Amino acid sequence: MNDDKVNDEQRSYDEAHALSLADPDRFWGDAARDLHWIKPWDRVLDTSETPHGKWFVGGELNTCYNALDRHVENGHGEQTALIYDSPVTGNTVRRLAYRELRDLTARFAGALINAGVGKGDRVIIYMPMIPETVIAMLACARIGAIHSVVFGGFAANELAVRIDDARPDVIVTASCGIEVNRVIPYLPLLDEAIELAAHKPSTVIVAQRDQHLAELRAERDLDFHQALSAVDPAPCVPLQATDPLYILYTSGTTGLPKGVVRDNGGHAVALNWTMSKIYGVEAGDVYWAASDVGWVVGHSYIVYGPLLKGCTTILYEGKPVGTPDAGAFWRVIADHAVKVMFTAPTAFRAIKKEDPEAQLLAGYDLSRFETLFLAGERTDPDTLRWAEEKLRVPVIDHWWQTETGWSIAANHHGYGFLPVKPGSPTKPAPGWDLQVLNDHSQPMAPGEVGALCARLPMPPGSLLTLWNAHERFSESYMAEFPGFYKTADAGFIDADGYVFVMSRTDDIINVAGHRLSTGGMEEVLASHPDVAECAVIGVADALKGQLPVGFLVLKAGVDRSDEDIVAECVQLVRERIGPVAAFKQAAVVPRLPKTRSGKILRGTMQKIADQEDYRMPATIDDPAILNEIDEALQGLGLSSARR
Ligand code: COA
Ligand code: AMP
Repeated sequence: MNDDKVNDEQRSYDEAHALSLADPDRFWGDAARDLHWIKPWDRVLDTSETPHGKWFVGGELNTCYNALDRHVENGHGEQTALIYDSPVTGNTVRRLAYRELRDLTARFAGALINAGVGKGDRVIIYMPMIPETVIAMLACARIGAIHSVVFGGFAANELAVRIDDARPDVIVTASCGIEVNRVIPYLPLLDEAIELAAHKPSTVIVAQRDQHLAELRAERDLDFHQALSAVDPAPCVPLQATDPLYILYTSGTTGLPKGVVRDNGGHAVALNWTMSKIYGVEAGDVYWAASDVGWVVGHSYIVYGPLLKGCTTILYEGKPVGTPDAGAFWRVIADHAVKVMFTAPTAFRAIKKEDPEAQLLAGYDLSRFETLFLAGERTDPDTLRWAEEKLRVPVIDHWWQTETGWSIAANHHGYGFLPVKPGSPTKPAPGWDLQVLNDHSQPMAPGEVGALCARLPMPPGSLLTLWNAHERFSESYMAEFPGFYKTADAGFIDADGYVFVMSRTDDIINVAGHRLSTGGMEEVLASHPDVAECAVIGVADALKGQLPVGFLVLKAGVDRSDEDIVAECVQLVRERIGPVAAFKQAAVVPRLPKTRSGKILRGTMQKIADQEDYRMPATIDDPAILNEIDEALQGLGLSSARR
């Protein structure tokens, strides 16, 4: 360990944050030395082409080598890399040591090469939470192919949109996913998606599962395990630090998702750094992110972060409740001696609802458990207090986005936890020069709510661009506040420098920690033949944070029953976007409240639904419109009738 490292360990949060902004080359250059580089970088940070910055320009590395081979070559081949724990398949537990995971990955990389995949080619991974998914991701990283994991809860149409944007020749999938007691065959969904897509992949590799065997098409499909059997393991290829590692699609303000592109170098450096500095884990520790590999949390903290650090990561195929009960999380923590866990607050609200006194905790030994981290949505003070009281460990809210790949604001274990303020993810992480701006890009006073924006450049690990859409990237994130990255979250920073994230400034809603576009749902509803116009808003929900609610104005002359049309609309969103949208409530209304220029007043509708104070918009000619919305909400058991 060099002197700078020793210094970093002695730094306070304030010193580290200040250094990261004053001298990013030194701060992140030091962090990068923990990894293996095939060729050292020419420049740590390069802003000559893009104001948000490129990291470790000229450097060459391989992310898979750093996540697997490096640990094997350093003598840790027998240490457990991954524990697959699956209550939904009869309590399967499978442990894969670093050597075994490296060997399987190298062979699957060989199988991908045999299927024609090379550096820069895209591979879509549409898979459940099984070890083959992690193997497929790392195998892509090994050969420089760009993976794009698509969450299993999306419908065929969403998958088709991603196929057309990423244009993969190979898709890796499984015969089925399992949702508690429901087996979901994947091939029919995939076949439908390929049918819908203009781009046709040539090869589909299918991991067969005992719960459901898929019928393979000889001309297109390969069996995952057969593909592994007679193949040469592929070596890690040298990649530029700035070469793309993956594309992860996330909701934008239209139905067309944004393909967030992550690089290799900055990503590996940032995630490896976060493991010790934010989460407080070192090589050999057991780290568990209870999320899904289809989301950014799964990419960063089920797969890349813990493996880069040399931890043992847990791949949990189950839910916080119902698999089999609200003690499931305690069982996993106890069985695998988890030191640090990361999940979304909604999971804890689900547990609290079923077992308010946490009686199920009694049967489990949680003595090795040190810290709970929560993200994906704001941790509400009730959930924070409940978790602190029951678990008796620090409970840390931290704020981040698919775009950033890791925390924008956090409480850093590695610099000593600061006192927790309920409702705040604490302070900006190193590299983030966070400001609250008004509409004229001017900084606001402490405590005043405005747009949360970060002064450019962004720290390593942040998105490189949007796939096939560099202009959309600049337009979406950099145009409104010149010189800043717009997080699209509103909030404030208090006089002590604590960040408070209050709401999105766009039409994104957060349902059970899942990011969804109400605009995307409106596009689906508008396609119903009887719907003239529509609006979708996110309404506060005690379990999932928010739930989408639709308002439908029917075309003149439609005389079918409202119930039938609503049921068809609910089904349409499930079919086109997927069950994960959780779109189950809609009402037919005579008209929608609008501004004079025709903009639907969704914000006012949401305030009515959430029983918040609102000012009668001056642009509304007839206040009765808002009463109609309130009545519709009451009809759904929401708004004034609810409380
Ligand atoms: N494949 C297919 N369907 C899926 C799916 C998948 N991978 N994931 C979810 N779904 C389905 C669910 O079965 C459910 O369908 P239903 O309408 O038929 O019941 C629907 O999508 C909504 O799923 P979900 O939002 O997960 O709700 P839930 O009621 O099943 O569970 C929680 C609620 C809170 C327990 C659950 O959301 C959870 O565990 N959240 C943890 C948070 C998390 O993982 N966040 C990710 C970011 S950190
Ligand atoms: P995603 O890209 O799916 O990770 O969603 C990112 C969005 O989730 C952010 O822009 C926030 O709106 C919200 N979010 C995530 N974590 C937090 C948090 N800790 N506090 C408040 N909002 C959060």
